[in-house]
Amino acid sequence: MTVHIGAKPGDIAETVLMPGDPLRAEWVAETFLDNAECVNRVRGMYGFTGSWKGHRVSVHGSGMGMPSLSIYANELIRDYGAKTLIRIGSCGAMQESVAVRDVILAMTASSLSTPSRGIFRELNFAPCADYGLLRAAADAAARIGATTHVGGIYSADVFYDERPDLNEIMTRHGILGVEMEAAELYNLAARHGVRALAVLTVSDHLLTHEALPAEDRQRSFAEMVEVALEAAFA
Ligand code: HPA
Repeated sequence: MTVHIGAKPGDIAETVLMPGDPLRAEWVAETFLDNAECVNRVRGMYGFTGSWKGHRVSVHGSGMGMPSLSIYANELIRDYGAKTLIRIGSCGAMQESVAVRDVILAMTASSLSTPSRGIFRELNFAPCADYGLLRAAADAAARIGATTHVGGIYSADVFYDERPDLNEIMTRHGILGVEMEAAELYNLAARHGVRALAVLTVSDHLLTHEALPAEDRQRSFAEMVEVALEAAFA
């Protein structure tokens, strides 16, 4: 047990998928895993462990935002021995060429700040995905037939943003989409020598203001989970 995770030692697999929403973790476990067992319920941040095509895998919620993800990812890596962490979540598109329902594989994650800022201080560290995972995810997405974009994303500290000027600068610099967790996941993976990737489905569009209808979210989410699982065990 750790401060925030009630699982026993050995209850968590080396590969962990991390959706923001703990109820999504439950849905992923029920839909994709065999013999899934709930291994954490502390604060309602559910974690499950089961198997996929014979591979042991956990799914654990990260919560929303980098401070929350940092708590769970730190404990999963340091206390439970997680070696491959794949964020599965949604993002807002920042390019005309990206459409709602598309999949984004986050090669890098820019930010204004992350919980690691106090460690890096004057260093502008460049958080990036594990190349092997990224390549395997791109291959898996192509096989599945998902419209996929690989590139930089923006990990924001706020959902209700008051800086449209910053969004414009990021769009101009090719940033594909915005979410709120990947940059710190990549920082932590680098610090602890483990693999990380963020696989994102586009739920809304900052330029066209289109949003994915609720009934379509599950289907897009399923495609993303398949990409993440195939990449993890490629
Ligand atoms: N901003 C931040 N995070 C998000 C968004 C957004 O527009 N859409 C989905 N996650």
